[in-house]
Amino acid sequence: MADVTRRKLMAGLAASAAAGMAATGAGCAKGDKKLRAFKNEEFYDADGTFNQDAAKRAYYELMEYHGYPVYDSLKEVLWVLDFAVGRFTDVGMGGVFWLNEWVEEGKYGYLGHEIFLLPGQMIPEHWHVQHEDIPPKMEGWHCRYGEVFLFAEGDPSPDAEKIIPASELKFTTCRNVQRLAPGEVGKLAVPLAPHFQVAGPEGEIVTEYASYHSMDALRFRNPDIKLD
Ligand SMILES: [Fe+2]
Repeated sequence: MADVTRRKLMAGLAASAAAGMAATGAGCAKGDKKLRAFKNEEFYDADGTFNQDAAKRAYYELMEYHGYPVYDSLKEVLWVLDFAVGRFTDVGMGGVFWLNEWVEEGKYGYLGHEIFLLPGQMIPEHWHVQHEDIPPKMEGWHCRYGEVFLFAEGDPSPDAEKIIPASELKFTTCRNVQRLAPGEVGKLAVPLAPHFQVAGPEGEIVTEYASYHSMDALRFRNPDIKLD
């Protein structure tokens, strides 16, 4: 599906989205604020290297569009990923681990995580396994700005496949969709369950509440994915 068509569909699914919002292939607008359309090529150098600085600048634009505070401390710890897929506008994310603590003595841990996705961008399908003494991660998501489509196992939702970037469709199995608007929350049903999320036409800023996050415990459906 052409990217513009997919974004229009998401805009249609977002029937209750904020009044005055418009989403097109040329970007979107809210009041007097505009968020430009991002092109994949602007995130890669001539040799194909993922340009992390360009990705961070795009997330700052997203934050400013939504009125999200861009602290200096956030700029120091913001990380970005394209998962080595090479299609950052389809598959990628920005994140801040405000807290990610594992207490060895008590064998417990917790995570405070902010997730940033550009319009239509996707965190690829994955699940979290047990790693050494660390139990499988449990997660919940609180939409702060924009809109997020949470994908999980369960009854297929109408038009679920039309929300997923076409290039990643074959690496997904979840077809049950929960849409979150700002102020709404969703959660992982059970440990080990596969899941992923796709941002709406205005992108998303989502707070994740979770148990401790271990990169070593991540498993992805797409075998080509790498985290560095
Ligand atoms: Fe996850």
